Amino acid sequence: MIDGKKVLFSGMQSTGNLTLGNYLGALKNWVALADEYECFYCVVDEHSITVRQDPAVLRKRARALLILYIAAGIDPDKACLYYQSHVSAHAELAWILNCFTYMGEMNRMTQFKDKSAKHADNINVGLFAYPVLMAADILLYQADLVPVGSDQLQHLEICRDIAQRFNNIYGDVFTIPEAYIGKAGARIMSLQNPEKKMSKSDENPNASIYLMDDRDTIIRKFRRAVTDSEGQIAYRDEQPGIRNLLDIYCACTGKTPDDAVAEFSGRGYGDLKSAVGEIVADTLDPLQKRCAELTKDKGYIDSVIKNNAEKASFYATKTLRKVQHKIGFPDRIR
Ligand code: TRP
Repeated sequence: MIDGKKVLFSGMQSTGNLTLGNYLGALKNWVALADEYECFYCVVDEHSITVRQDPAVLRKRARALLILYIAAGIDPDKACLYYQSHVSAHAELAWILNCFTYMGEMNRMTQFKDKSAKHADNINVGLFAYPVLMAADILLYQADLVPVGSDQLQHLEICRDIAQRFNNIYGDVFTIPEAYIGKAGARIMSLQNPEKKMSKSDENPNASIYLMDDRDTIIRKFRRAVTDSEGQIAYRDEQPGIRNLLDIYCACTGKTPDDAVAEFSGRGYGDLKSAVGEIVADTLDPLQKRCAELTKDKGYIDSVIKNNAEKASFYATKTLRKVQHKIGFPDRIR
């Protein structure tokens, strides 16, 4: 708890181009959460280097992501928006937690298996220990809640296990975090394979809508979206492509699937695709403009980066010092 509010932590990587899925599935919900909770939204650049990065690109994208958080409507005076690498407590706590995590536990992580298959030439120790750094992120702020996608639930589970293990030995040091399951968080699927989540690392650029795509590109990608041969617009498991288009439509308009189905009843797939393309373009247009404006306001963004890193450090260091003392590191001389 901070000032009587529950603490909520989440983070995103700045690698790759963020997609409509990242926006509708995560970022858009983060905005509202900041009214209710004490939120820390981190740009997890330390996680990014588990895969080889071009330094200039990484730096540029990290800043773009932080700007996107603000452009999406998160008020940086309320929620703490910062870079993981600016708060050294993350790496320090991660080291300590490494010593409370078993190889066997990490070996079971499905994301590690997937990523090591994908980057077979660079299966580094950081990639292996990735979930431990993520646990440190969360535990440093004594977070009560963590909004994560289903692909990260296994990591959150391990975080809870590590925290519980630590508390069992040293007393109540860490708050045990829980997954925040939002109100029907939109799960946006690939436009080319609606059985698969829309992903920023998809090789097929037509599979994803990138947040910076222009209107024509958006419309064209929706026109090419994979559907089915049923020929009727219904919201059901048997028609995952149509259902995904309806989900996107609903996430952008706030309508329910029933309303959307009624609206499109008797109309063709082409109509639905154009309508979804238009509404997505209308949704992203103001976001893109705001990003462009904020990007120009260097002084303001720099001040957000500096102030919020200090705020994050304040809370993180408090937890870190407690942990260091508990495990027997010599106290600092003041
Ligand atoms: N691993 C998360 C992802 O790839 C990002 C992340 C890092 C995170 N640390 C976190 C998410 C802490 C929630 C809480 O999506």
